[in-house]
Amino acid sequence: MRNYDVLIIGTGVAGLFAALNLSSDKQILIATKGTLEDNDSFLAQGGICVQRDEMDFEPFLEDTLRAGHYENNEAAVATMINQSQEIIDDLIDLGVAFDKKGAGFSYTKEGAHSRARILHCKDMTGKEINSKLIARVKELKNVSIFENSTLVDLLVAGDRCHGAVLRDQAGKLSNVYAQSTLLATGGIGGLFSKTTNFAHLTGDAIAIALKHGIRVKDLDYVQIHPTSLYTGRSGRAFLMSESLRGEGAILVGKDGQRFADELLPRDLLTKAIYTQMEKDRLPYVRMLLKGHVEGSIAGRFPGIHAHCLQEGYDLVEDYIPVVPAQHYFMGGIAVDLNSKTSLANLYAAGETSCNGVHGKNRLASNSLLESLVFSKRAAQAIDESFQCALPYPFPEPDARSIEAGLKEANRKLLEETGSEEEAHAK
Ligand code: SIN
Repeated sequence: MRNYDVLIIGTGVAGLFAALNLSSDKQILIATKGTLEDNDSFLAQGGICVQRDEMDFEPFLEDTLRAGHYENNEAAVATMINQSQEIIDDLIDLGVAFDKKGAGFSYTKEGAHSRARILHCKDMTGKEINSKLIARVKELKNVSIFENSTLVDLLVAGDRCHGAVLRDQAGKLSNVYAQSTLLATGGIGGLFSKTTNFAHLTGDAIAIALKHGIRVKDLDYVQIHPTSLYTGRSGRAFLMSESLRGEGAILVGKDGQRFADELLPRDLLTKAIYTQMEKDRLPYVRMLLKGHVEGSIAGRFPGIHAHCLQEGYDLVEDYIPVVPAQHYFMGGIAVDLNSKTSLANLYAAGETSCNGVHGKNRLASNSLLESLVFSKRAAQAIDESFQCALPYPFPEPDARSIEAGLKEANRKLLEETGSEEEAHAK
């Protein structure tokens, strides 16, 4: 029998940062479906928002609410903004190297931001943050890590969560007991054919929450990112970061003319792109940086530049074909401001969870920040309310009933999120 104080599922920034913020007397297991680095935090390009100064609270709040169509939980937005500087300080202490401009930091802008407030590490902000967190977590003596371990059920009895059932690479099922469990399994992009997400991120925790009647919220709020690289092939869509447009890149139709404000909120720009594609009868519109982005394009966007070269485009010189793709999920397992779910001893953070911070449409570069703020709060809440109970004796997991339960749970999730066509048409 495996028995831990805290079980964390997922190794994006939410899972890792929670482990780093839990007290070191807790025995922690972190399990992840792929390898440590196979998570969407790792892919984040643009950056992480921060409240730049006292004067920035109101504009940051208003930008987030406006992008979210004022359906956001305002208390969650205020909490996130108020803790943003603290989180950036934490990351710097953990070794994250944000880009500098002179003696200070370099801030960029993205869609629907009224001012530049996004810190970045070139165009690989997620990789820089995630890899620094992985390195620090690996130093912790109280943390074990299981890679290639899939969440297939929760252990629920007596109105509380007692841990989870995991399936290893060989297909073996095990009950893992924990006093507290944190779900940080990312989004649902794997359910879509055109997504910037890893294909194995299929909303597992959300489906299992539905199966157990754990409260969920806004399951039809799916975000389509306006610009991924058009290739005509299937497989993961490569993101053409919103920070390209934040630094000045324009979008043009077949006639070479701009057709929209490139810094509209994501949902509105996506609509404008689809309208233009229909007008042009083309499966893409084109993005141009040359003459619009100042400074060294290859230096500021080395990852995107290298990827485009592999696909036969020079980001510095060429028009690049781009098309919208599924990118983010605003809905998820309903949580309070301390990331507690409706089931005792069960927490959720990051894209898996929904505290309402993003409303109907997430503001660019708020996702890493949200994950870090609310996973730290989850860790604090777990530490504060920690009570050791004897593990509840569950029977060994039965493969047939687990598979049947998963199938039904996934069917429910797909019903709630709606079809891919519906998400693109919204
Ligand atoms: C991007 O770089 O466009 C993505 C950033 C985000 O999803 O907020």
